Amino acid sequence: MRRIDNCPEELKTISVRAEGRHASHGQHRSLASEPRSGGLPLRPRPLCYDLCVPSHSQRGKFITFEGLDGCGKSTQLKKLAAVLSAEGVSVVVTREPGGTPTGEKIRQLLLDTNTSSLAPMAELALMFAARTQHIAEVIEPAIGQGQVVLCDRFTDSTEAYQGGGRKLGSEIVLALHRILCGNLQPDLTILMESDVAASVDRARRRNNAQAGKDNSATVNENRFEQESRAFFGRVRNAYLALAAREPQRVIVVDARGTPEETHKRIVDVVGRKLKLAKSA
Ligand code: TMP
Repeated sequence: MRRIDNCPEELKTISVRAEGRHASHGQHRSLASEPRSGGLPLRPRPLCYDLCVPSHSQRGKFITFEGLDGCGKSTQLKKLAAVLSAEGVSVVVTREPGGTPTGEKIRQLLLDTNTSSLAPMAELALMFAARTQHIAEVIEPAIGQGQVVLCDRFTDSTEAYQGGGRKLGSEIVLALHRILCGNLQPDLTILMESDVAASVDRARRRNNAQAGKDNSATVNENRFEQESRAFFGRVRNAYLALAAREPQRVIVVDARGTPEETHKRIVDVVGRKLKLAKSA
């Protein structure tokens, strides 16, 4: 069981233990350790999703969730994690900025409204500092062990928010990604498409409610939510541009319906793209 400190409960990095009929000898099941026959797991498949990875592959999968603040990413990420973990797949749920003790400290600095006058380039550098640590400490080791990593935001967020929103452009983001992140690419990115106004309103309400609950001036993750409508319009356009550039990796999912409708779309996409065979 691996955990990340300083993370909200719902986003703790988890390694899910297989339960019920798929739990064999209390083992964690990872993609690398699943016994296979012709690419398929050697077990019955009632009402389940089987993650099929070529037998020569020891690496897991890296799936990222992207979208505007308040689009419902975290909820959908948890729902997908539940589907996969119910099948005994070893899932790591994590987030950016953050995901490591160091990254969570950087997150506080980045999202706190008390952090004023942060230069866009400094913001960019901090995003990549947290990410570089995250890859080294969490993402690469987990993928290397054959786990499925579900990450709430990754470099596409930097391209959308700093590249688009802050107008730094894509080139510098992609260059830093190559230099600092070894150009690590997700196997699949779910881009949740939502309305700017509705999403940002939702994010603001959620953060205000959270701050009220915690009754603490130190819990304040509103710095980005305070940005203008024009800022989020640029973020959205940058997201759509990168999705058009990389249609194989980035799948746009309509997130304007109910959480259940969105969940169903995401499970379909994940099943199709990563060869999760629904055998119901
Ligand atoms: P979230 O965890 O609620 O999605 O909030 C993280 C905020 O940080 C969100 O407003 C997007 C922003 N962000 C960037 O601006 N650049 C990045 O690279 C990442 C990962 C997040």
